[in-house]
Amino acid sequence: MTPRPSRLVLLGHPVRHSLSPVFQNAALQHAGIPARYEALDVPLEALDGCVRALIAEGAAGNVTVPHKEAVAALCASRTPLAERAGAVNTFWVEAGALIGDNTDVAGFASLARQLLGGDAPPRDLTIAVLGAGGAAAAVLTAIEQWPNCTTILYNRTPARRDRLARRFATVVRGTADDPVRAVAGCGLVVNATSVGLADDVHPVPVEAIPRTAAVLDLVYRPGETAGVRAARARGLRAADGAGMLVEQGAAAFERWFGVPAPRDVMWNALAERLAS
Ligand code: ATR
Repeated sequence: MTPRPSRLVLLGHPVRHSLSPVFQNAALQHAGIPARYEALDVPLEALDGCVRALIAEGAAGNVTVPHKEAVAALCASRTPLAERAGAVNTFWVEAGALIGDNTDVAGFASLARQLLGGDAPPRDLTIAVLGAGGAAAAVLTAIEQWPNCTTILYNRTPARRDRLARRFATVVRGTADDPVRAVAGCGLVVNATSVGLADDVHPVPVEAIPRTAAVLDLVYRPGETAGVRAARARGLRAADGAGMLVEQGAAAFERWFGVPAPRDVMWNALAERLAS
């Protein structure tokens, strides 16, 4: 059996604002696992050396912006979901080899189920996906598994949008040149861009979103995002990315330790920090 990792890290650049250490350390303490989870700020040029050292140590961890694709390329093997998304957010070492997974996919699916209700995956929806980075790829990987759902894809940089649309031609029914066109007639809007992370900017004017649509914003920040607040004020169902953050972290914890993650403990630790 692979020994439990004694060191857990989050690789990103920057990572100072991440709240993963807050709820992962709460979970480790609750489970009585003698390990610490720490954020490592790793510039791209240092990533290779850092990952090599982590493999030698038998460490495990998560990956965030902008390293998810680069770490996927460094893995000796990837789970089918990580392979499909082309991005790794969770890694560990088995027999000296780096293994990569993508728990953002399950995190997003869980957030969507919480918002839309029901135990089964959502079905029969037209979904506007805003963004074309690693987060959008994880979203499309999840939607691909939902019955009879299609997406309209928008991204600020059209070439990147078109590349992602080609990779996910199974679910991308069309692309849009502006977010207002993307959301017209849709039943769900997903903000998979980083817009709204640092300021009160909406990825799309809320008046353009159909009154029957739901809004999922993968961004999270204290007091929720401007997009979520505006959607609720219009009477729409809306949720920010805090639920997805906890669920991807819980799924990662289960990969590393093979025991159920204490989701309530993780959620309470995150909620407390977001409220403070
Ligand atoms: P992630 O892994 O979180 O998806 P990423 O790969 O850096 O991170 O992608 C960030 C996404 O947010 C991209 O879709 C990016 O659009 P571009 O491809 O045009 O860069 C989008 N994004 C970031 N800042 C933005 C802004 N100010 N306006 C619109 N889109 C933005």
